[in-house]
Amino acid sequence: GTPAAKSDKTVTLTIDGQSVTVPEGTSIMRAAREAGIAVPKLCANDMVKSFGSCRLCLVEIEGKGGTPASCTTPAMDGISVNTQTDRLNTIRRGVMELYMSDHPENCAACAMGNCEMANMAETVGLKQNRYGDEGANHLAPSPIGEHGVNFKELDVSNPYFAYDPAKCIVCSLCVRACEEQQGTFALTVEGRGFESRITAGMDEPFLQSECVSCGACVQACPTGALQEKSIIEMGMPDHSAVTTCAYCGVGCSFKAE
Ligand code: FES
Repeated sequence: GTPAAKSDKTVTLTIDGQSVTVPEGTSIMRAAREAGIAVPKLCANDMVKSFGSCRLCLVEIEGKGGTPASCTTPAMDGISVNTQTDRLNTIRRGVMELYMSDHPENCAACAMGNCEMANMAETVGLKQNRYGDEGANHLAPSPIGEHGVNFKELDVSNPYFAYDPAKCIVCSLCVRACEEQQGTFALTVEGRGFESRITAGMDEPFLQSECVSCGACVQACPTGALQEKSIIEMGMPDHSAVTTCAYCGVGCSFKAE
């Protein structure tokens, strides 16, 4: 979702036919969640201000043109919003397909079920990717910057976590989590397109930044681009199985790898 709005005034709107009343300033995405409707998203969460970069959360507002992002558009009194139309679902699949073209097919985070992006691809019904994963393998023509950091080079400088630009969709959640949750301005986005990546600025590795290793960026990352080293060391699972815990009579299932 998006952060809660603090207002005594309320607005009432309709989302997918359901009436919902929320504090003024609440995003349409959060209002939808109040109504039990999960709008697909990658670059928003409850902890940081919305940015509207991933374009997965687009919605339609009746009587208005366009497809605004529900994470950055405030709920307004009397509007009627649709979150699940054929047009929106087609746009979302197209967006997701582009993201998957910039993400390696052989990704341990996806295989371990840690990748929000892989889950979202399934949610929007993406079954094929016509563009392959060329973006993930794309190398900058030559190393850049005074330290010669290639835009696809792993950053393993931090002792606790690593950054893999091949898996990064540059949603900037990590940059915003660092700034807004931790109050540290350690990270920034550098470069454009396939050659964009997160750095500590001036193409410096993470360890050169003011990073205090709080882990807020790792927690916010929806793609496995930022991962704890201890998890990376576990590698790709050879196989996985769903089993039922025999500890009590409830019968919870869990995935073993
Ligand atoms: Fe709204 Fe990404 S969640 S644009």
